[in-house]
Amino acid sequence: MTKIEFLDLGKQPITNNFLDTQNPKNEFFYDLKVVFDQESKLVSLKNFVPPEKMFNEKYAHRASMSKTMQLAYKNLSVNLKKNFKSDSVLEIGSNDGVFLKNFNVQKVVGVEPCKNLAEITNALNIKTYDKFWNLKLSKEILKDHGKFDLIYSANTISHIHDLKETISAIENILDKNGIFIIEDPSLLEVLKKNSYDQFYDEHAYVFSAISISNLLKSTNMEIFDIEKLATHGGSNRYYIKKIGGNQPTKESVIKILNEEKEFGVDNLESYKKFSSNVKKSKEDLFKIFEKIKKNKNKVIGYGATYKSSTVLNYCGLNTDFIEFFIDTTENKQGKFTPGTHIPIKKPTQDTMKNIDYAYLGAWNFKNEIFEKEKEFISKGGKFITHVPKPMII
Ligand code: TYD
Repeated sequence: MTKIEFLDLGKQPITNNFLDTQNPKNEFFYDLKVVFDQESKLVSLKNFVPPEKMFNEKYAHRASMSKTMQLAYKNLSVNLKKNFKSDSVLEIGSNDGVFLKNFNVQKVVGVEPCKNLAEITNALNIKTYDKFWNLKLSKEILKDHGKFDLIYSANTISHIHDLKETISAIENILDKNGIFIIEDPSLLEVLKKNSYDQFYDEHAYVFSAISISNLLKSTNMEIFDIEKLATHGGSNRYYIKKIGGNQPTKESVIKILNEEKEFGVDNLESYKKFSSNVKKSKEDLFKIFEKIKKNKNKVIGYGATYKSSTVLNYCGLNTDFIEFFIDTTENKQGKFTPGTHIPIKKPTQDTMKNIDYAYLGAWNFKNEIFEKEKEFISKGGKFITHVPKPMII
């Protein structure tokens, strides 16, 4: 056994299962445990959750809902067109088209198993396959569209259980001078920020540059550049080419691999330390909420993120501690948080009045939120966060 369990985050619900009622029957829970593979250096969930339970027509996340993300995808598309002259583009996990709509829609193809989202992009004239990415689908797309100059996948490859098949399906359909980009949360950032909430049902893997480069060893592809991103609390964008492809390898690759090695991303000891930091984080966050409760202060949650579901369920934070959440995503509003059953409301002009504390579920949008909530802050309102450690801001 090369896989060692280092973290147990307890019983967890499907993060995307925002509930219609506060007292649901038969809510599904699974054991959220995390393992480190000492050979491949991959960090993954011990028990994968069946994809159909997570990615279906009820999928709530809409990438276009955040101004930050809209702009980031727009800028990225401009840069890719300029630097790589990419013409034909395939996106795996195209969500609501926030990335693809920046290209010539005649030349782009989306893959999105959540039918509600695929409908949105098909309506934008973006040919979208509402299926799970695998070898069979890659052959179908190859037959229909030929090979692609650019294959892009943000926050999706880490969700697909069979990594070997996923990668070889991509290799099949990538042009010999084509570029494959993976964007996913960075394991180094998770360890540094103690952001254990990156572990939830959908994130079957949290990648490092080390584990991705090990994964590619059994293929004819390699990383030629890595960019660090602020998205999702610290992500990496891996640029991958076919060996012999015409892109030069950048210094960033060796630099980031070395940085990860120096931190101990390839070392079991780092995960043992992380695990004890997570336990301490749970205790400290709970103490903060207990104290606030004793003082009868009014507390809400800000941003009913998937990530926050891990924190709320692991730390036992339910309606005894958080009165309600606000979230700008329409299809979360009027629902209840999975597992902890906290009501989610649409933010209004008056929401933040009479609130003492807001728990930052969307801590990855801290700057955008602080900018928006200047009035709340100036009137003495405080935020609670658990990243990088539990504290009141
Ligand atoms: P996201 O960053 O996608 O995190 P996760 O992948 O963990 O779900 O989700 C951000 C959520 O926060 C999204 O539902 C929108 C919400 N949000 C607000 O309600 N108000 C805001 O000002 C911002 C920036 C986000």
